[in-house]
Amino acid sequence: KAKGEMKDFLHINDFDKDTIMRILQRAAEVKAVLKSGDRTFLPFKGKTMAMIFAKPSMRTRVSFETGFFLLGGHAIYLGPDDIQMGKREETCDVARVLSGYNDIIMARVFAHKDILDLAKYANVPVINGLTDYNHPCQIMADALTIIEHIGRLEGTKVVYVGDGNNIVHSWLLMASVIPFHFVCACPKGFEPDKETVKKAQEAGISKIEITNDPKEAVRGADVVYSDVWASMGQKEEAAYRRQVFQGFQVDEMLMKVAGPKAYFMHCLPAERGVEVTDGVIEAPNSIVFPQAENRMHAQNAIMLHVLGL
Ligand code: CP
Ligand code: NVA
Repeated sequence: KAKGEMKDFLHINDFDKDTIMRILQRAAEVKAVLKSGDRTFLPFKGKTMAMIFAKPSMRTRVSFETGFFLLGGHAIYLGPDDIQMGKREETCDVARVLSGYNDIIMARVFAHKDILDLAKYANVPVINGLTDYNHPCQIMADALTIIEHIGRLEGTKVVYVGDGNNIVHSWLLMASVIPFHFVCACPKGFEPDKETVKKAQEAGISKIEITNDPKEAVRGADVVYSDVWASMGQKEEAAYRRQVFQGFQVDEMLMKVAGPKAYFMHCLPAERGVEVTDGVIEAPNSIVFPQAENRMHAQNAIMLHVLGL
């Protein structure tokens, strides 16, 4: 691959503010075309995409596959048992073989190094569909959703409540590019990666706070955001985490403290009654389903961008 020219989509802060905003603008435009029922915009005609999944998925799999198809392309799903990257075959070999057949490689993996290796050896753009470290496509969809509901991401207050995980890292990287107020409220010992927090703070773009006090954190929030307490790969810790995370459930009381303008967001899948109550997820100010739908629209624009279309 002619590195330098080649665009991967691995971390939000690999791009400048203009590029991120342009991708989000494009997402809104292509969404409008698809929503109107128009099926004549087929930029991916004759193109194929390999999708590697080392972990389960509903949204990422269906939104990428459907989005690529609706815009004229063909996507191939490769599940955990198909490629067994790093086990049946080295990542560097997978990258080069798939590059021979496909125009894009999208991958969901455990170790972040696996996506970096794929990108290093592939001759086609690689898109990060979640790693243990980050989830950039999700936060692009979240930004699109916030822009639709509030009018802008810039200047808003986004408060994440829960585990300092991959979702938080992508929010921090977004905050290194777009100016807003990001707060992560998590139990002691479950803070996001220190290096990532430091880099995001040093970028000097956004106000960034890490706290152990969810009630203080959510005051005046535009968005209260939650995610599972035990991510994929941590499910055997779920019972232990339920103990430690007491007090970090987003419930009706916490949303009341946040105030009347606060929307509720969650990347899903959610464990109802654990990190969020049924009442909060079903409330009128919960935008989790438009948020999930926007995965497809944000990713369509990301795919157009990496292909230079
Ligand atoms: N939010 C998200 O990535 O969902 P899936 O795990 O279902 O893809
Ligand atoms: N933090 C969650 C996100 C799922 C979309 C996980 O990694 O399992």
